[in-house]
Amino acid sequence: MTATGATSPFDLHGRCAVVTGAGRGLGQAVAVGLARAGADVVLLGRPGHQDATRDLVTEAGGKADVVDLDVSDLDAVERVGADLNASRQVDVLVNNAGIIDRADSVDVGRDSWQRVLDVNLNGLFFLTQQLGRPMVARGHGKVVSIASLLSFQGGLRVVSYAASKHGVAGITKALANEWGPHGVQVNAIAPGYMVTDNTTALREDADRSRSILERIPAGRWGTAEDVAGAAVFLSSPAADYVNGHVLAVDGGWMAR
Ligand SMILES: NC(=O)c1ccc[n+]([C@@H]2O[C@H](COP(=O)([O-])OP(=O)(O)OC[C@H]3O[C@@H](n4cnc5c(N)ncnc54)[C@H](O)[C@@H]3O)[C@@H](O)[C@H]2O)c1
Repeated sequence: MTATGATSPFDLHGRCAVVTGAGRGLGQAVAVGLARAGADVVLLGRPGHQDATRDLVTEAGGKADVVDLDVSDLDAVERVGADLNASRQVDVLVNNAGIIDRADSVDVGRDSWQRVLDVNLNGLFFLTQQLGRPMVARGHGKVVSIASLLSFQGGLRVVSYAASKHGVAGITKALANEWGPHGVQVNAIAPGYMVTDNTTALREDADRSRSILERIPAGRWGTAEDVAGAAVFLSSPAADYVNGHVLAVDGGWMAR
């Protein structure tokens, strides 16, 4: 038994977890993983994209609400965030929604740059601010953002993505410093090379795909489920003394 009466420090029964961009890929697996750990989940994302995940959560015995939100629309972030705070206590926020644009840096246009920063960085910060405010006031909460290996490295032909994901690591550490004294832990997960729509172009490029695989000690690309356990851990009481950390879930890539 833990101090809260739960049987496991990873138990999330009685907690409400909001997951952005949960309609597919890593966000879907994280939402289902949190629900399996006992959390009620709110699937926050683009209209019509979250239904399959709601069904998977229900099949897993969990409860999911769907709320429409384009995280790059900062007025909507403020409105939807306020509605969520008014209707429930949000205990966990998983910032998962993200996009990538591949181009040589000399060719990157302003629109593409802005789009990536709007989703991956600006939306993430202002949603975290909105849902984090009551966590800080209450003295309890968890924020888990999906960063990237490109929070540490530069990558190839993805300069806006690398800039945004370095920014996610920076926000994580800055908020951990400010919110840690108020009982709120702010961490991030840096997935390695995972099989999702985000990496389709890489996997279709035989040379890139082979050179990536050669560097992964695990000898395989990651799956969405590989990220779910780390997200449950960082959302749970087991991680109460983990703060400001960016956890690589990369099959060992960063160790090479
Ligand atoms: N797949 C990988 O190898 C990998 C590696 C490192 C980091 N990541 C990160 O993991 C996260 C999830 O990516 P994924 O691999 O599952 O890719 P994905 O493209 O399958 O999923 C991205 C999700 O974000 C949602 N989304 C995009 N723009 C949005 C917006 N404006 N508002 C709301 N939702 C929006 C999409 O609808 C989708 O559900 C992203 O932040 C991505 O950068 C992925």
